[in-house]
Amino acid sequence: IQTIGVLTSGGDAPGMNAAIRAVVRQAISKGKKVKGIRRGYTGLLAEDIVDMEAKDVSDIIQRGGTILQTARCPEFRTEEGQKLGAEMCRKHGIEGIIVIGGDGSFRGAQKLAAQGINTIGIPGTIDLDISCTDYTIGFDTAVNTAMEAIDKIRDTASSHERCSIIEVMGRDAGYIALWCGLANGAEQVLIPEKYDFDEQKIVNNIIANRKRGKRHYIIINAEGIGHSTSLARRIEAATGMETRATILGHMQRGGSPTCKDRVYASTMGAYAVDLLCEGKSNRVVAYKDGKFTDFDVDEALAMEKQISDYQFNVGKNLSI
Ligand code: F6P
Repeated sequence: IQTIGVLTSGGDAPGMNAAIRAVVRQAISKGKKVKGIRRGYTGLLAEDIVDMEAKDVSDIIQRGGTILQTARCPEFRTEEGQKLGAEMCRKHGIEGIIVIGGDGSFRGAQKLAAQGINTIGIPGTIDLDISCTDYTIGFDTAVNTAMEAIDKIRDTASSHERCSIIEVMGRDAGYIALWCGLANGAEQVLIPEKYDFDEQKIVNNIIANRKRGKRHYIIINAEGIGHSTSLARRIEAATGMETRATILGHMQRGGSPTCKDRVYASTMGAYAVDLLCEGKSNRVVAYKDGKFTDFDVDEALAMEKQISDYQFNVGKNLSI
């Protein structure tokens, strides 16, 4: 392989820039050329492709977002789109592509591989919802951002003796909610994976906690459950405790990446280049059981991931 392409796809995540930087510099250090594809698969189809030198990735390791921009590309789900994508790669001399994104982006990479282009995926999403890996780029930063925001909400909830419902991102996954539940010492965590949620129990618990003198009641609600505002109204009516809902939203996706996101994203970026240089294709880089590794994309997409029962129950036990 002489020329490697790199793109970011799906929702952006802090640390993607560190991964792009690592891809560019690791490739250059191995004598390869790098082309940056802007706006994900959309940019590939539109030939939004630029040459990348080492200096083009200076001063980005500490920045959130992605300098390559990103997009969700429905056209790439069609066979026509995939064929055109492979054609564009050939036209621009791109023999291997590194795709930084989530499961949907890996499906695109899998299709490109079927069209004869070497592809490697790097897990990039704040949701941590990629089964083959214990780490995804951006989760650490996002969960720290959410944790800090929830600490602040807790200050005001305590002062006013209120119940606060804080809705965090994660699409259909509850990892951000679960981690914040533990990190913020929340009274209640609601996640789609453990939907055992009994509203009357929460109401009883709030009333009992008030009697014991607790000054606030923090509920972390995963986006996959949602409806925080109506839940707040019902809780306030049933408990008499003033209740507010806060939806943290996209602030969780921005900001300077944490040390962990910079280091892991850099390692994964370099690892992806190494795989392409070894002639590998249709693989996803992962961090599993304490080490960096890689899986076949088909195998990775077929895996299932489960929220740890133990961690979930610890959260419950510590919230008394
Ligand atoms: O996948 C990352 C994520 O932020 C999810 O947590 C959320 O459901 C989704 O993207 C939001 O997407 P958009 O930025 O397109 O509104």
